[in-house]
Amino acid sequence: MMYKYLIRPLLFQFDAEKAHHIAFWLLGVADRFWFTRLYRRFFVSKSTSLRREFMGLTFSSPVGLAAGFDKDAKRYNAFGDLGFGFVEIGTLTPKPQPGNDKKRLFRLIPDRAIINRMGFNNQGVEAAVKRLKMPHRTIVGGNIGKNKLTPNEHALADYSSALEGLYPYVDYFVVNVSSPNTPGLRELQEKEPLMKILSALQLKSAQFAERLVIPVRPVLLKIAPDLSDDQLDDIIEIVESCSLDGVIATNTTISREGGLASDASLTKEAGGLSGAPLRNRSTEVIRYLKSHQTKPFLIIGVGGIDSADAALEKLDAGADLIQLYTGFVYEGPKLISEIHRKLIARG
Ligand code: FNR
Repeated sequence: MMYKYLIRPLLFQFDAEKAHHIAFWLLGVADRFWFTRLYRRFFVSKSTSLRREFMGLTFSSPVGLAAGFDKDAKRYNAFGDLGFGFVEIGTLTPKPQPGNDKKRLFRLIPDRAIINRMGFNNQGVEAAVKRLKMPHRTIVGGNIGKNKLTPNEHALADYSSALEGLYPYVDYFVVNVSSPNTPGLRELQEKEPLMKILSALQLKSAQFAERLVIPVRPVLLKIAPDLSDDQLDDIIEIVESCSLDGVIATNTTISREGGLASDASLTKEAGGLSGAPLRNRSTEVIRYLKSHQTKPFLIIGVGGIDSADAALEKLDAGADLIQLYTGFVYEGPKLISEIHRKLIARG
């Protein structure tokens, strides 16, 4: 209620990126004065029926915050206090980088959608590590990418470097080769380069764990919704042959099909589209992965979840866990508790 009738109208007065910073600032203030912990205490369900065990990790809820929201690991604990069972930080690149020129984030309100072409703006792995050293109150995933200026031939060095830097401080990793906003990045989803990167990262992951004497961190792959069935078959084959722990489906789409209601001046903006218009396609990808996998791997479903029913749709299609981004912008923390309530009622 408070989000929808007070906070959102206030935030939506501002340009989308500015509003994001204001929301972060507000959450920081709340966290500092322990309001988020109080929120956890009074509003966050402790129902054991929400608990999930995957990849050797215990998730207090199957609902997570998707990558891109807390890129620099500034508020992961506060987001955990709002009820998220896990928070994916990043995409982090080895070196800091400013991302694309502003304006680069657009609300498509009639479509309950967002277009972004942020371009991996982030403060780099080192800055994130400093923040990740404080005790975690939720499971934290590290979503990693390559710097814009690193050519694709050297992408592996960037992914390895980010993996190494973050290794002791996150619970799982996500290899992001699916953002539409770093030129050429999605070419890394092709069979040959992807196989090379993922098999090398799996090897490194085992080596880092052994050297640090800590459990091996699970590694997942995040894919685009714009892949064909043949490409999805390749992804399944690679994930299974590299013994990857799972797939996150999906990132934002470059497609503008399906009749958007917002002004053409907005829908024509370059970048990735997220939110309600992505919902069906991302569910389709999840269903495809689930029905074609030959060895079980974890599926995290993300794309257009803005209601409890949309969350159930992803789980019923085969997702083991789910993540929110755009739906959370439009609905606020109430969306998490609505999904929890529905899941508890379902048992
Ligand atoms: C994203 N997303 C994203 N994904 C990722 O792997 N790394 C990133 O840095 C970002 N950054 C980012 C910024 C913004 C502004 C948006 C809206 C999205 C994609 C996000 O994690 C998610 O996969 C998609 O947005 C689809 O989910 P929703 O938004 O429809 O719930």
